[in-house]
Amino acid sequence: MAKKVFSGIQPTGEVHVGNYVGAIRNWIKLQDTYESIYCVVDYHSITIPYDAKLLPQRVLDLGATLMACGLDPEKAILFVQSSVPEHTELTWLLTTITSIGSLERMTQFKDKSSRQKGNIFAGLMSYPILQTADIIMYKADLVPVGEDQVQHLELAREITRRFNTSFGQYFPEPQPLLTSGAKVMALNDPTAKMSKSIEGSYITLTEDPDSIRKKIRRAVTDPGPQGGEMGPGVNNLFVLLEAFAPADLTEQFRDDYSQGKLRYSDLKNTLAEAIVEYTEPIRERRSELLGKPAELKEILAVGGDKARKQARETIRDVREMMGFQMPVR
Ligand code: TRP
Repeated sequence: MAKKVFSGIQPTGEVHVGNYVGAIRNWIKLQDTYESIYCVVDYHSITIPYDAKLLPQRVLDLGATLMACGLDPEKAILFVQSSVPEHTELTWLLTTITSIGSLERMTQFKDKSSRQKGNIFAGLMSYPILQTADIIMYKADLVPVGEDQVQHLELAREITRRFNTSFGQYFPEPQPLLTSGAKVMALNDPTAKMSKSIEGSYITLTEDPDSIRKKIRRAVTDPGPQGGEMGPGVNNLFVLLEAFAPADLTEQFRDDYSQGKLRYSDLKNTLAEAIVEYTEPIRERRSELLGKPAELKEILAVGGDKARKQARETIRDVREMMGFQMPVR
């Protein structure tokens, strides 16, 4: 049987080129080889303060952006987490077999809770349980994620094992499928990951061409090609060039670099134009999709129906295994 892939992405704002290179591009490749399920995880996105009025548009926008990037709802299941309420039910059941100590050890929880002023809510701590429910609900084998999610995947395996030993072998233990290739770093600070929370660090997929050019022009480099070791800023520009420009161009720039005759201004101009050109059809397709919100919602709802069909089966089995006998009518 073909291996099954599941991954999720939070609707917390616009998608940047780092998300595209690090995750989305990979998802799109995988949809041809694996049975793939991709989810806009709106329930995860409310574990930090958010604006309920903005959420609906963010969800639609992310759905449209994913499709504009090439995610094909005919090949993969694409759905919105909250349209499959079984995710919350499985989360509760798993909460009863998840150790608090493990949750407290999660780096992401520690980071996010230290940044939180005032109350820290239980949802932030339970976040990885919901993530585990997402994955095992569909009995996924592989979870394409970045390095930062490996710890959550380890916890998912721990919870899965506890379920299987307590109630009977049922769920496969999900494995991370690490995104190959380098991470995209912040343009203005190449020692940090490109992130929506660092102003000036990112380029979104929907950014207008002039703004793309401006941000690339301002990207941090180094005093000049020194031969040998490449500075992190220049390296980051090459990572982007590799992702967005034709391979022969990248190779030529690499040659120039190693011969010490690369001009960073040329590299930047070429890179900016490559990103502009590459993202233009994505921008267009996204606004086309967003221009027909009813159709867009329908596509996502159909994805939800397909996912829910599988989720109901899982929940039915899990209820029985955990000793719940009352029928749901
Ligand atoms: N926590 C993931 C992230 O921040 C998002 C996510 C939620 C996820 N559920 C998932 C990723 C299930 C993979 C599988 O990137």
